[in-house]
Amino acid sequence: MEKVVSGIRPTGNLHLGNYFGAVRSFVQMQDEYDCMFFIADWHSLTTHPKPENIQQSARTILAEYLACGIDPQRAPIYVQSDVKETLELYLFLNMNAYLGELERVTTFKEKARKQPDNVNAGLLTYPTLMAADILQHRAAKVPVGKDQEQNMEMARKCARRFNHIYGVDFFPEPQNFYFSEKALKVPGLDGSGKMGKSEGNCIYLRDDDKTITKKVMKAVTDSGPQEPNSQRPEVIENLFTFLRIASSEDTYQYFDEKWNDCTLRYGDLKKQIAADLCAIVAPIRQRIEDYSADTALLDRIAREGADRARESATATLREVRRIVGFR
Ligand code: TYM
Repeated sequence: MEKVVSGIRPTGNLHLGNYFGAVRSFVQMQDEYDCMFFIADWHSLTTHPKPENIQQSARTILAEYLACGIDPQRAPIYVQSDVKETLELYLFLNMNAYLGELERVTTFKEKARKQPDNVNAGLLTYPTLMAADILQHRAAKVPVGKDQEQNMEMARKCARRFNHIYGVDFFPEPQNFYFSEKALKVPGLDGSGKMGKSEGNCIYLRDDDKTITKKVMKAVTDSGPQEPNSQRPEVIENLFTFLRIASSEDTYQYFDEKWNDCTLRYGDLKKQIAADLCAIVAPIRQRIEDYSADTALLDRIAREGADRARESATATLREVRRIVGFR
């Protein structure tokens, strides 16, 4: 069975970008693939979180993963920092990663712009740690959103380069996996590009119906369709993106026709999106509460997940050491 791996940084609660961009695929893939999902707590260190928050942040995401429907029996869930083997592979991969290419990664450039006083080496080598996460399990597929495309390109480059340098066919080149045919960027509803924690424009899986509705009703719009069948400006297309990912095909068609014949009322569109989002989020929110209350269960799941991840990583590392020359 093909191997699948993916992770999320524990820097707050899961939002709809994480859910529709990644976690929904995790849930779907666990039936068909040999899956492993993890919580990327080492990756979150690039922004210097408070030590007292690290453990709790990991538990938060774990409860949210479970609430979304990941079944740890089928798809182990582990915390990145519990599997130290990753660091050894990270070191090997760093020896073959070059400054120029790491500096060209868009997410590095963005972060360097946003936190000019903290352009640390971990930020620069973020893609090689991500490659180690994936390659240590020799994963074939990685469910991610559009914002991870460049990091995934780097992971493939690391795999290719390792195989080439040592003349082996050891690492498969991991492919991006998307829930629908193409990469998804869940937009922000504030007129900015994507929904994201650092953008401060998120709808969270923990938000109650009232909060979700309020956030959707406040979405930026314009003065309405002016001409039949015109192209939608970005802020309106963003709303239609939500219809596409959260509502039925019929609902999408209904509002698309209203747009095309210039009878669309944004208030109606937003009410529909809010209702459809609430219907998806409400049961997840309830389960988050239940799982969060059971820290013994969360810790047991993380422990068992780490054991299974370590087993897989150890087998890979044993081979990698031999290939590199440590016999
Ligand atoms: P992170 O924690 O920023 O986001 C987790 C996942 O959510 C997706 N995502 C989105 N997708 C669509 N639209 C959005 N607005 C949106 N916001 C977030 C991300 O694409 C991602 O799939 N580097 C990764 C974590 C990571 C990882 C890995 C992922 C570390 N190692 C190995 C896969 C494999 C990150 O920062 O994701």
